[in-house]
Amino acid sequence: MAKDQLIVGIDIGGSKIRTVIAEIDGEQSSINVIGVGITDSHGIRKGNIIDINETIANVSRSLESAERMAGEHVDSVFVSVSGNQLKAIPSRGVVAIGGQEIGQDDIQRVLEAAQTLPLPMNRIILRVVPRTFTIDNQEGVKQPLGMSGIRLEVDAEIITGVGPVIKNIEKCAHQVGIDIDDFIPAPLAAAEAVLSKRQKELGAVCVDIGLSSTSMAVYEEGVLLHTVVLPVGGENVTNDIAIGLRTSVDVAEKLKIEYGSCNPHDTSEKDEINLSLISKTESHKVSKRQLLEIIEARYHEIFSLAREELAKIDRDGKLPAGVVLTGSAIKIPGCMELARNVLGLPVQIGFPQEIEGIVDRIDDPSFATMLGLVALGAKSERSSSFSFGKIKFSQLFKGMGSFFKRLIP
Ligand SMILES: Nc1ncnc2c1ncn2[C@@H]1O[C@H](COP(=O)(O)OP(=O)(O)OP(=O)(O)O)[C@@H](O)[C@H]1O
Ligand SMILES: [Mg+2]
Repeated sequence: MAKDQLIVGIDIGGSKIRTVIAEIDGEQSSINVIGVGITDSHGIRKGNIIDINETIANVSRSLESAERMAGEHVDSVFVSVSGNQLKAIPSRGVVAIGGQEIGQDDIQRVLEAAQTLPLPMNRIILRVVPRTFTIDNQEGVKQPLGMSGIRLEVDAEIITGVGPVIKNIEKCAHQVGIDIDDFIPAPLAAAEAVLSKRQKELGAVCVDIGLSSTSMAVYEEGVLLHTVVLPVGGENVTNDIAIGLRTSVDVAEKLKIEYGSCNPHDTSEKDEINLSLISKTESHKVSKRQLLEIIEARYHEIFSLAREELAKIDRDGKLPAGVVLTGSAIKIPGCMELARNVLGLPVQIGFPQEIEGIVDRIDDPSFATMLGLVALGAKSERSSSFSFGKIKFSQLFKGMGSFFKRLIP
C-alpha cells in the first residue's frame, strides 16, 4: 500500500500567517488536514516583508503550533506569494514537433518558448499556466500529450513576482529551518481550494479580499483565463472609517468588526455607537448609519473594480458559475448581497472542497489560500499536470532582470 505523505502549506498574509499540515493518501488521493497554526502577521506590508525578524518569528510560531497539533516535524513547505507584486502576463509559445507524437518534453519545450518574453528588471516568473494548446490549425486542445502534428503552440498565462520579495520569503523560510517546495501565487491557491471542477468548466471567478489587496482568478472551460491583483482590501475600509469618523485606526477596526455591515439600511438614521464601549481612550458617539455608509462605499468600489476587470476580458456578467468569495474581509454582513448587485452575477462564499480532517478548524473562507497550497502541492506531487508550469526552484533567480527570461532546464 502506498504510504501517506505530508504536504505543508504556509500562507504568508498581511494580516495572518496560516500554516496547514495535511496527509495525502497515496491510494485514494484524499487530502486530510491534521494540523493548523495561525498567528498574527506584523512584518508584512502589501505582500512585501518589511520586518524580516518579525516575520521569521511569526512564521516560526505558526509552523510550531501546526506541528504540535499534527504531532509531526516539518522539513519543507509550499508557500504563497501574494499582494500587488503579482502580475500575470499573457504569452504564446511555438515549437516544431516534426510530425511526431507529442511527448512530455515537447510540452515542456513549448512552455519554455512561452517564457521568452521581455520582463521588467527584478521581475521573475513564478509559474506558467497553459490555457490551451494548438496543434497545427487545431485550436483549443487541452491535453496535447500523445497527439501528432508539425507545430505545437501554447497560449499561456505567465505569473510573475518581484525577485527581491521572493528572495526575502525564501530567506525567512531558511531562517526558520525549512525548505521551500514551491512558491504558489495566492490567487491560484485560493481558487483551487474553493472552486469545483464544474464551476471551473462553466466559468467562475474566485475573488479573495484580504488586508491590502483583492485578488481575482477567473476560470473557464476548466482552465485559468485571467488573474489579477487589485491594490485595495480590508485595511482601506478601516482607514476610511478612521478618517470619516475621526477615530484611531484601532477603534475603526473594532467598529468595522463589531458593528459593520455593507447595508446602511440595517440601521436607522438615529442609531449611535458610544465609542467608550470599544475604546479606553475615545468616548464620543458616532453615527451607525454613517459607519455603514462608509463601509458600503468602499466595498462597492472593490466590487466595481472587479467588474471592470471582468469587462476587460469580456466576461462582465458572463460567468455562469458566478463569483466565489474568499478572504477574511468578506465576513462582513451584507457582503454577498452587495457583490451580487454590483457584479450582476450569482455569488457564494467559498468553503474548502474535497479537503477532509479537522473540518471545524478549516471551514472558513479565510483559509482558502492556505488549503489551496496543500491541494496544489498534492497535485504537483501526484501528477505532472500542475507541475507543467512549475519553475525549477534552483532556476528561479538565475538571470533575474535579464531582458530575455531564462528557460526551464
Ligand atoms: N468579520 C470581519 N468583518 C469585516 N472584515 C473583517 C472581518 N474579519 C477580518 N476582516 C478584515 O479582513 C482583512 C484581513 O483579511 P485576510 O485575513 O484574508 O488577510 P491576509 O490573508 O492575512 O492578507 P493578504 O491576503 O491581503 O496578504 C482585514 O482588513 C480585516 O479587517
Ligand atoms: Mg490572504
